[in-house]
Amino acid sequence: MTALPPPLERIPREIASVCDYERFARERLDDKSWAYLAGAAADGLTQAANRRAFDALQLWPRLLRGCAGASTRVRLLGHDLPHPVLLAPLAYQRLFHPDGEAASAMAASAMEALMVASTLSSIPMEAIAAQAHGAPQWFQLYLQPDRAVTLQLVRRAEAAGFSGLVLTVDAPVSGVRNQEQRAGFALPPGIEAANLLGLAAPPPAQGHPVFDVAMAHAPLWRDVSWLASQTQLPLILKGILHPDDAREAVAQGAQAIIVSNHGGRTLDTLPPAIVALPRIAEAVGGAVPLLLDGGVRRGTDVLKAMALGARAALVGRPYAQALAAAGPLGVAHCIKLLVEELAVAMALTGVRDLQSIPADLVGA
Ligand code: FNR
Ligand code: LAC
Repeated sequence: MTALPPPLERIPREIASVCDYERFARERLDDKSWAYLAGAAADGLTQAANRRAFDALQLWPRLLRGCAGASTRVRLLGHDLPHPVLLAPLAYQRLFHPDGEAASAMAASAMEALMVASTLSSIPMEAIAAQAHGAPQWFQLYLQPDRAVTLQLVRRAEAAGFSGLVLTVDAPVSGVRNQEQRAGFALPPGIEAANLLGLAAPPPAQGHPVFDVAMAHAPLWRDVSWLASQTQLPLILKGILHPDDAREAVAQGAQAIIVSNHGGRTLDTLPPAIVALPRIAEAVGGAVPLLLDGGVRRGTDVLKAMALGARAALVGRPYAQALAAAGPLGVAHCIKLLVEELAVAMALTGVRDLQSIPADLVGA
């Protein structure tokens, strides 16, 4: 077996956009980790549709209005952020780089990007928080079968300084991950869900693996209001696509919503997040800030999402690929590219302020 090349120590000029990281990441990962990083559910139709939907949208520029002194700043749940590019929660990042989530957190901090740390991180959440150095971080929660264990995670997140709780509601059961199956993906020895080690596990359930095992512990609406009542942290629901669910999320105490199809990793043929976004924006009518992820690869994608009602956008696979290719340097560069592209897109469309984008900026 030939050894895989080490992470890049500097960024070659061939990496001019975030998708250019893909090739460099592929060379540095084995087939199994690659299938986990890049793969999607079933035929990958939703994953591809996320991209196609962005590509089908056009920006209608307004000119000659000046953009001097403008900025990419946004306000989000009490944070004044220099830009709206966030890092989505990605599990098991030590599959991609030996420092895993610590490297991503360090890069996010350097770029003042808000990072969302996964319940399934491969280093403990406290070690991720230790790399924040003042940058905001949120904790993504997968509800645990036992409420007491869920609360232990919440209390640890509060104590570690996370400033938001992202409850992922779209993945109570694993998607049909054919690419992972074909590659034989399983977590290698030494990579594990570090936050969950030593926590009480429920007795194994019997019966149908989907309906009786996985769904026996799936979050319900009443868990959302319960969680909101248990913590001072703002609760953000991730994975909403239907406008009625968005309304319900607000009614149950969610303080923000991440419009998402999990990057196409749960159910194939779900609609693109950018298609769901304007419908959800209409349904919630500004009651809570909306965020979006799924297919964000360009500064123009961030601007389109914001024009259609998002306050910020999250990226997933691109930063995992940058992490695999070039460690924290790669992740920081990935964020920088997106923010610089966003600034260019604002200047060339006459958008001075991301909080007041003209409604007719985006057309199909
Ligand atoms: C994810 N995603 C995810 N979401 C979540 O809520 N908790 C998690 O632990 C994970 N883990 C995870 C691992 C990997 C390798 C990927 C690629 C994705 C979904 C993620 O937060 C986000 O919704 C998508 O990645 C966004 O789509 P793009 O940017 O990857 O197209
Ligand atoms: C994933 C799970 C961990 O998408 O959310 O791989």
